[in-house]
Amino acid sequence: MQSDLVCISAACRARYGITEVLYNCPKCGGLLEARYEFGRPDVGELKLTWRERRMSNEPLEQSGVWRYRELFPFMDDDRHIVTLREGNTPLLSGPRAAEYGGLDQLTFKHQGFNPTGSFKDNGMTAGVAQARRLGMKRVACVSTGNTSASMAAYASAGGLEPLIFIPHGNISYGKLAQALEYGAKTFQVEANFDQILALVRVLAERLGIYLLNSINPFRIEGQKSIVIEMMDQRDWQPPDWIVLPGGNLGNTSAFGKGLREMYELGLINRLPRLAVVQAEGASPFYEYMRCKGKSPFQAQEHPETLATAIKIGDPVSWPKAQFEVETTNGVVERVTEQEIADAKAIIGQCGVGCEPASAATLAGIRNLTATGVIARDADVVAVLTGNVLKDPDYIYRYHTGQLKGPDDCPIHPNFGNRPVVVPNDADRIGELIS
Ligand code: F0G
Repeated sequence: MQSDLVCISAACRARYGITEVLYNCPKCGGLLEARYEFGRPDVGELKLTWRERRMSNEPLEQSGVWRYRELFPFMDDDRHIVTLREGNTPLLSGPRAAEYGGLDQLTFKHQGFNPTGSFKDNGMTAGVAQARRLGMKRVACVSTGNTSASMAAYASAGGLEPLIFIPHGNISYGKLAQALEYGAKTFQVEANFDQILALVRVLAERLGIYLLNSINPFRIEGQKSIVIEMMDQRDWQPPDWIVLPGGNLGNTSAFGKGLREMYELGLINRLPRLAVVQAEGASPFYEYMRCKGKSPFQAQEHPETLATAIKIGDPVSWPKAQFEVETTNGVVERVTEQEIADAKAIIGQCGVGCEPASAATLAGIRNLTATGVIARDADVVAVLTGNVLKDPDYIYRYHTGQLKGPDDCPIHPNFGNRPVVVPNDADRIGELIS
């Protein structure tokens, strides 16, 4: 099938070969995306094929990404693909969270069930496959932690050398530990995410290293599988809303593209609305969309949030994300540190759990139902992007009342659960329990 890289800028639309090593359009600097001549596939047949593949013992069919490869047919040879059986993440219901969020019911799609514990695996398996196809030896990324953990795993599994650049002191230990354990060469840079991205782009160009940040169009292709799998799990009935946290806005771009393509192919009969939630201290996309994109996009120079995964002030994919939010008649919301922390504890009380950035979804839903943007009886899926164990330090501090916001302002453990220190004495412990 014909596949190309196309500039998304309406005024340009330049086309490039699918094997060109490009991250931006050489003509206008715009973002690039993969485009295919899908033709008119038999969608009933496709749905059946995808269902049948779930029964298979073949690695590619077991992957919750590559099982859907007909919707991102850029790869010429399956032997380039490295799979750790990514995707296959569950839909979980959270009645307590629904109540807290002002909804009759709420479903979580939990991407934290991925091999490295975040949604990045859905995109990384695709990006690493393309790196191997191109004959690359080294791959690099800047990361707030999850991209680097994922890239380290997939690159090492695929025999590539992973080079990781992270903001010094600003990612959780769980994520840093993963990068080290998966064998990545790890550079802790004294700068923030946005500054390091500029640095890594220079290094990638200079040293011929393949860049695997979400500006890489193949990462986006892989992440489309999150919404494809979601629709498959819902028997192709789209929800009213899909709610997700926004950082660099790669996932927003991927969800929108995946949904549009499914709609155009007739796999779903309407588009769900996207609700993107940012942390108050790192909310340049919220600010931009609040003015309906009328004033120029303003990067935030010093983003601040304890949800370090989304501590990004200059998200590269904002033009794609703007298009996708507008196309789905979506919204952008922002939430405070206190709101994120409390929502996270509630998600934990559902027996589900997630990392701080993911909890921005429930905090956002609570605000959006309070203002009537999301109706109480709406069918809502919140995407939990990372595993509860990614940032245990945050959890301990919250529950013991030691968590402080970036401005040193204390975060109240409104749903705190302090561990109790007891003597080694059955009577005393018995008294405490009763
Ligand atoms: N949630 C988690 C857990 C993340 O790790 C990220 C991004 C996001 C949400 C935001 O997604 O960037 O596509 O809008 N983490 C990146 C990283 C930036 O380096 O791991 P986005």
